[in-house]
Amino acid sequence: MERTFIILKPNAVRRGLVGEILKRFEQRGIKIVGLKFLKMTREQAEKLYEPHKGKQFYDELLEFMLNGPIVAVILEAPRCLELVRHIVGATDPLKAEAGSIRGEFALTITKNLIHASDSTDNFIRESSIFFSPDEIIDYYLDVQDDI
Ligand code: CMP
Repeated sequence: MERTFIILKPNAVRRGLVGEILKRFEQRGIKIVGLKFLKMTREQAEKLYEPHKGKQFYDELLEFMLNGPIVAVILEAPRCLELVRHIVGATDPLKAEAGSIRGEFALTITKNLIHASDSTDNFIRESSIFFSPDEIIDYYLDVQDDI
């Protein structure tokens, strides 16, 4: 089993797409093991996007992410990192496959609705900004033997 970290960005919340997006992971059989609704602090946003500091889109990205509440989620499944990024689609919604979340609901790169970790190291780094170990809950998912 592998885990990954996703954020439903403020525009996903404002557009009422939280249920639609989470449904896509749940119906695939992916287990939610951590879930939080929160307004990110500037410190959390700076930590999350530290690798992008200095890039031309950095300031705009930070302001956008601080603009409203987000949903932070930890997911678990076999090959979860790759699977979730496939369901999410390419960073640029223009390049995102039809049927992916960004391919169906997003228009611009900054407002691409959802973030997903791209490696195990980044999953650990990013998820620890929002979750302590005791907030990640392991349990038996009813469908897990049938997927
Ligand atoms: P995300 O997956 O959250 O990771 C970095 C974010 O930077 C990305 O999604 C976009 O929201 C944002 N971003 C804005 N402009 C660009 C760009 N030109 N290339 C990559 N990411 C960008």
